[in-house]
Amino acid sequence: MFDPRLSLLEKKLENTENIILFGSGKGGVGKSVISSAASYILSETGYNVAYIDLDFYGPSSQNLFPVGAQFKGGRGGIELPVSNNVRVMSIGYMLGDKPFPITGKEKIDLLIDLFSILNFPILDFMVIDLPPGMGDELTFTQRLFRDKISMAVVTTGSELSLNVVSRLVKYLRVENIHTLGVIINMANLFGEYSPIQIGQKLQLEVLGTVSYYPELEQFKTVKEKIENVPGFRKQLEGIVDGILDKLNL
Ligand SMILES: Nc1ncnc2c1ncn2[C@@H]1O[C@H](COP(=O)(O)OP(=O)(O)OP(=O)(O)O)[C@@H](O)[C@H]1O
Ligand SMILES: [Mg+2]
Repeated sequence: MFDPRLSLLEKKLENTENIILFGSGKGGVGKSVISSAASYILSETGYNVAYIDLDFYGPSSQNLFPVGAQFKGGRGGIELPVSNNVRVMSIGYMLGDKPFPITGKEKIDLLIDLFSILNFPILDFMVIDLPPGMGDELTFTQRLFRDKISMAVVTTGSELSLNVVSRLVKYLRVENIHTLGVIINMANLFGEYSPIQIGQKLQLEVLGTVSYYPELEQFKTVKEKIENVPGFRKQLEGIVDGILDKLNL
């Protein structure tokens, strides 16, 4: 069925060069921490970046990328607030700590509305932080932004995580979604498989590994995490380099 919001949306995203989805299928593997840190580093490198948190049930953007000011609307829609030079959007900014159960058509409507009410500036990168699972957030972005999307798969080295993640990887392959590679998080915690073995198991290039840094938890915002945990910064910089390489940038 024709939905005028969708054609409006396609037009709005004409100015967006690359859309990178950080997904896993598995929950709690570090998608939000890694995607927000990658956004921060891409922006530091000089790119125009937006970070969109599509996790409606457990948004984390309000912690990772705090914004002070209220939302402002202009002729082209609501401006994305800026946090540490990154344009950000998350339902978490509006919800505070309220629970937000949403399913079915309402969720799809919210996805469409969320994108169509925003005024997207010229962007080199839109980074999308996906929730766990393979629900509407993935299939909607896939359908809508097909030619522009690339997926960075996030996993830990645990057997449980790899089993779930390999399902997502199969889906990406069947659906012909451009996949950049896999990021192995908390790599030092699970010794069962080496990064090379994980890459082989998933048949994906390893974009990099991130160690478990217990001190990361002390720092709330992504800026604090990056600026106070040098090992984390270094590993994320390596991953961002890998992503840029894969995109020939
Ligand atoms: N490398 C790491 N070192 C230490 N703690 C980490 C690391 N990566 C993630 N964490 C912590 O693990 C928890 C889960 O991370 P995060 O929220 O990024 O996962 P997620 O995959 O986005 O989860 P969800 O599936 O719920 O969206 C957070 O408390 C985060 O701070
Ligand atoms: Mg998350």
